[in-house]
Amino acid sequence: MLPAVDPSVNHLREYLEGLLPADDALLQALVRETYSLTQHPRMLGDRWLCAFLEMTLIGRTAPRVLELGTFTGYTTLRLARAAGTSGHVTTLESSPLHADIAAKYFAAAGLEERITLLRGEACTLLATFPTTPSFDLIFIDADKAEYPRYLELTLPLLRVGGMLVADNVLWGGKTADPTLHDLRTEALRRFNQTVLSHPALRATLLPAGDGVVVATRCAE
Ligand SMILES: C[S@@+](CC[C@H](N)C(=O)[O-])C[C@H]1O[C@@H](n2cnc3c(N)ncnc32)[C@H](O)[C@@H]1O
Repeated sequence: MLPAVDPSVNHLREYLEGLLPADDALLQALVRETYSLTQHPRMLGDRWLCAFLEMTLIGRTAPRVLELGTFTGYTTLRLARAAGTSGHVTTLESSPLHADIAAKYFAAAGLEERITLLRGEACTLLATFPTTPSFDLIFIDADKAEYPRYLELTLPLLRVGGMLVADNVLWGGKTADPTLHDLRTEALRRFNQTVLSHPALRATLLPAGDGVVVATRCAE
C-alpha cells in the first residue's frame, strides 16, 4: 500500500511522476495555462489518481462519468478519452474562470460532444438530475464541506457495480486529528464514516496522496 505522500517530498513525487506516461501536448498546455491563470494550480488532478480512475472504466460499455469539481478540466479530459467514443462525462464547476479554461480545452481536444460542462454550485445542479442510477463512475472533488450532501445526492445516480471515488478525504491529516473541528474537517469525517459503513456500498479509504475513498455500489 502506498503511504500518504507529503507533497513537499519532491523526490518521491518526481519518482512517481516518472513512472507514469507523459501527458500529450494538449494536456501539457492545459497544465501550463492552469499555473499561469489560476490561484491554486495544485488543485490539478494527480496523474496517478487519473490513471486509477481511467482503469475503473475498462470493460464498461458506453460508460457514463459524473465529476464534481472540474477545475480546468485535466481529469475530465483524461476520463473523456478513457470513456471512448460511446462514453460521456458530465462535469460540474462553480468558478466561471475555471469553467472557461476547461471549456476551451474541451473544444481544443475535439471532445465537446462527449463532455457536458455544467456551470454552478454542484448541489444546486445535482438537485435537478433525474434520480435514476445512470453513472458508472462518480468522482467527488469539489467543496469539501459539501461531501456528505454530495454523497446523498449522487448515490441514487450510481449504477450497481459502479464506482464512487472521492479525493482529499484525509485533508492533510486533519480528519484523523481529534483536536480539530472546523467545518470541512467535520464534513469529511461524516462523509468517510457514512461511506465506509453504508449498506449499499463496499468501500475503503486508500491512504494515498491526500486520501482517496473508493466505493462500489453493490446493492440497490
Ligand atoms: C480540487 S479542484 C478539482 C480538480 C479536478 N477534478 C481535477 O482533477 O483536475 C475543485 C474544483 O471544485 C470547484 N468547486 C468548489 N466548490 C464547488 C461547488 N460548490 N460546486 C461546484 N464546483 C465547486 C472549484 O472551483 C475547483 O475548480
